[in-house]
Amino acid sequence: MSDSVRKRVVGGDNAPPADDAPRIVGADASLEDEVYGATLRPRRFDDYVGQTQVVENLRIAIDAAARRGEPLEHVLFSGPPGLGKTTLANLIARATGGTLRPTSGPTMEKPKDLVGILTALEPGDVLFIDEIHRLGSVVEEYLYPAMEDFQIDFVVDRGAYAKTLRLPLKRFTLIGATTRAGMLSAPLRDRFGIVHHLAYYEPPELQQIVERSARVLEIAIEDAGARTIAERSRGTPRIANRLLRRVRDFAEVRAGGVITAEVADEALRREGVDALGLDRLDRAYIETIARQYGGGPVGINAIAATLTEDVETLEDVVEPYLLKIGLVQRTASGRKTTPAAHAHLGLPSSSAPQPRLF
Ligand SMILES: Nc1ncnc2c1ncn2[C@@H]1O[C@H](COP(=O)(O)OP(=O)(O)OP(=O)(O)O)[C@@H](O)[C@H]1O
Ligand SMILES: [Mg+2]
Repeated sequence: MSDSVRKRVVGGDNAPPADDAPRIVGADASLEDEVYGATLRPRRFDDYVGQTQVVENLRIAIDAAARRGEPLEHVLFSGPPGLGKTTLANLIARATGGTLRPTSGPTMEKPKDLVGILTALEPGDVLFIDEIHRLGSVVEEYLYPAMEDFQIDFVVDRGAYAKTLRLPLKRFTLIGATTRAGMLSAPLRDRFGIVHHLAYYEPPELQQIVERSARVLEIAIEDAGARTIAERSRGTPRIANRLLRRVRDFAEVRAGGVITAEVADEALRREGVDALGLDRLDRAYIETIARQYGGGPVGINAIAATLTEDVETLEDVVEPYLLKIGLVQRTASGRKTTPAAHAHLGLPSSSAPQPRLF
């Protein structure tokens, strides 16, 4: 039994999750996700579900590069957290036979941090830079000649005596991953030969992922149970795997160990996750627009102030999924709730603000 379930059981059946608890439907990786990630991460392209076009194009590019005896061109993956960017980087390294050298934008503060990594690369290595949008501009400039010509340029001395030294590098493949493609500078983006955006997964794909993870973790699950979890996973494999583990805890303690649709529904409701995968913060966001601002349009700053949340949290972790499933719209004049949102939460469809008692 996990700690969270133990607490919940001790706290009584209806004890709501604590306010400061991490969101069970949050897309960012928790420590527990990382631990299970090693077991659940697909190790072959055949186990990687969905993103069919991306995978097909990558496999062709990998084969073509191998035939020419060249390293794969540099690859950029963008897309929301938890959709499989790091997983793809691992699969590419495996398929090309290169060693994956993982690093991330924020950890490379100075040019020497990057230069140290670049000069240590062996031919065919795959350098993976996560959160590449957070690379500082000075560091980034060292990357340009490295990506283009496999060399680094140093300027030594100053003024009239200044000269550029060239340091050759081994031919490598750079894979960059970013959740914020818009924050990447144009010169950096243009140096990637292969650019792919990962989109949210559809429920049938997530169901396949849940079923595969259940096999790996030896969890008994019915089709309908896997479907229920898939439908509430916000298009995100990482969330699907997390919800599966949480439902398993509940199934073991309360339901004889088998995950049926009813067991999954009950377990997730106790976690505050509804039929569309929304949690309390999502619902509060929708209700704020609907009740306090007559369904909008209303600016994000006003919504954030009313909810006492950061604008970034709302933009990064609440809005993308609500926009994707059509509960909210972003217009030039602000955010609006849709009739689907009102129907889902049982809110009046009128656009008149509800009276407030203060
Ligand atoms: N297509 C897929 N098929 C099966 N499982 C997947 C797939 N994509 C992701 N996963 C699972 O989801 C987990 C999270 O994926 P991953 O770490 O690759 O996401 P990410 O896009 O790199 O996220 P972040 O932006 O937070 O770094 C993986 O450990 C893996 O188990
Ligand atoms: Mg990642």
